[in-house]
Amino acid sequence: MNSSHRRQSSRGRSTVLKVVILGDGGVGKSCLMNRFVSDQFDEHSFHTIGVEFLNKEIHLNGEVYTLQIWDTAGQERFKSLRTPFYRGSDMCILSFAVDDPASFKNIETWKKEFVYYADVKADFPFLVVGNKIDLERKVDMEEAERWCKENGDVPYVETSAKDATNVEDAFMLCVKRWANTEGRMERPPMPDTVQLGGDSTRERPCFCSS
Ligand code: GTP
Ligand code: MG
Repeated sequence: MNSSHRRQSSRGRSTVLKVVILGDGGVGKSCLMNRFVSDQFDEHSFHTIGVEFLNKEIHLNGEVYTLQIWDTAGQERFKSLRTPFYRGSDMCILSFAVDDPASFKNIETWKKEFVYYADVKADFPFLVVGNKIDLERKVDMEEAERWCKENGDVPYVETSAKDATNVEDAFMLCVKRWANTEGRMERPPMPDTVQLGGDSTRERPCFCSS
């Protein structure tokens, strides 16, 4: 979705931004979303089946945004359930777990899958998130930063959904990136300061997570 056909929320006050989270099964996508939206963490989170989404209202520099966060199933067997939901995205988070090198290698494949099914160009606004930094790291930060640099200068954030490190920052970066690219025709660039507030809304899942 671009600025020429931005969606307004039902109350008409906010800009709705669709953010899709991709990455291997078990890297912590659902936990990242739930930490951000509800400030909760589930030690025994089950694999997602298909997709589900949650809304969170955000106040940034006097503007109100509704982040519509789409959490997808990372397991290969759910591919046909998740890919129809890529179209119309404003941002895509490519996630891996820093204790799982295979999940890092796979972000390239996730990027390709998104570009193909969302039917966007490779310069679409991506964000790479290395999650589980509370665990022993097996992917160097420098290696992840290098991949991001070589793949379109994609921003990189390291998070822990478990102890809430940088989770808010990662999602806020999505809004700031969008505002500085798609939204720049309509408003000046965003400053680095952000303010969280407003309500969070749990929306009906499209497919249930177990
Ligand atoms: P799929 O739905 O199968 O794609 O997996 P997912 O990426 O949504 O993973 P999920 O959020 O369900 O988390 C998988 C497991 O990792 C769960 O046991 C979580 O408790 C755990 N987990 C998630 N984030 C973190 C984290 O930051 N640190 C630690 N230590 N564990 C985490
Ligand atoms: Mg999940």
